[in-house]
Amino acid sequence: MKKLFVKTYGCQMNAYDSARIADLLAPLGYGAAAAPEDADMVVLNTCHIREKAAEKVYSELGTLRALKEEKAGRGDAMLIAVAGCVAQAEGELMLQRAPVIDLLVGPQTYHRLPEMIAKVARAGGKALQTDFPALEKFDALPQAGPRGVSAFLTVQEGCDKFCTFCVVPYTRGAELSRAPGAVLAEAQALVAAGARELVLLGQNVNAYRGTAPDGKTWSLARLCAALAKIEGLARIRYTTSHPRDMADDLIAAHRDNDKLMPFLHLPVQSGSDTVLAAMNRQHRRDDYLALIARIRDSRPDIAISSDFIVGFPGETDADFEATMELVRTVKFAQTFSFKYSKRPGTPAAAALKQISEKVKDERLQALQQLLLQQQNDFNDAQIGRTLDVLFEKPGREPGQLVGRSPYLHPIHAQADASTIGKVAQVRVDVRTANSLKGVLV
Ligand code: 5AD
Ligand code: SF4
Repeated sequence: MKKLFVKTYGCQMNAYDSARIADLLAPLGYGAAAAPEDADMVVLNTCHIREKAAEKVYSELGTLRALKEEKAGRGDAMLIAVAGCVAQAEGELMLQRAPVIDLLVGPQTYHRLPEMIAKVARAGGKALQTDFPALEKFDALPQAGPRGVSAFLTVQEGCDKFCTFCVVPYTRGAELSRAPGAVLAEAQALVAAGARELVLLGQNVNAYRGTAPDGKTWSLARLCAALAKIEGLARIRYTTSHPRDMADDLIAAHRDNDKLMPFLHLPVQSGSDTVLAAMNRQHRRDDYLALIARIRDSRPDIAISSDFIVGFPGETDADFEATMELVRTVKFAQTFSFKYSKRPGTPAAAALKQISEKVKDERLQALQQLLLQQQNDFNDAQIGRTLDVLFEKPGREPGQLVGRSPYLHPIHAQADASTIGKVAQVRVDVRTANSLKGVLV
């Protein structure tokens, strides 16, 4: 049997794609390798969102080149494929910069890997495919294999929003939704293979508009209602959402759909109207605050998560203070925050008033300190409470399992392995740095 090693960078959609690449190559005889050393084929599934993520790939390719040469010395071949958003963004240039690459595919063309592998095996040389064949990929992929207790399921891809800092509209293409029937079929297969939680993925997942065979358009709320009927499925989550697409029916679903978890990742990026306008976010600070209020009206205990960028071109001290103020008002459960990173081809990269690294560092540190405080407050508030935990896998300590609360906290508790895949009640006793600990009740 041949062996495949897939290394994933970046977002959850890349994690989904990596699992699909493994599904796709399994019929060709590829099983999972534990490390690149043992692999006949290595796939790097790359991320272009910030400069650091993109640069990591080239250092990994350097390591792989040495490994490939060493293997060649022993008469062993190793194929190296690059997938994902760096491959899409750089294309041919990437092949020139890293000649060790044999195969290069974008996020919408990885389903063609089998024919590309065959071509390279037959004729030698390299193969590259980076066009955008709309939705062809999902039709071409085989049925999803087992994924464990919590499984990702891409329902929407791409972005039409064109925030001025972001490469996604260029690397993932235009907003596209999969048909409800295709999503339900994949969901059923995942649940039949043992999944108890589905995490619906999309760059703008709440912009989901699937076309049913009767010509009707399904919203994300309607899709979640249909998914909730699948027997054996305990939980539904979705990510990432855009404030502009947070429709009334989805807000109501957080009250009405028992399987929809009380957790929402809703990136705001900045609390300053000037910066939000320069980012082309299409919402103002007050729109976001009003939206959060409506969501909390519908589901009072919902945990709110967000993304932030500090040091966007032109961001003043007052703009940054407006972000801090918004954070103090909302009180976030969990967040991601980043220094602005110039991305080739995006409008903001050409802006004149770039912010110095020193100021970006200071702002990020201040923001992260506040956000960490809020996260700790949110987690401390769980102590003494009894939470439903969906157990996913063994924990680090013997006899321990780890699972997730409805609010996405990792929770550790002593429990029998047979509890994996089940929802059990846990009384929370302790907060550790990034998780909670408790006892089964
Ligand atoms: N620089 C820094 N952060 C970025 N993000 C997207 N593009 C950039 C960039 N150029 C962040 C946003 C987005 C998250 C996925 O990554 O906060 O929500
Ligand atoms: Fe990027 Fe903005 Fe689209 Fe999110 S909404 S993927 S930040 S362009």
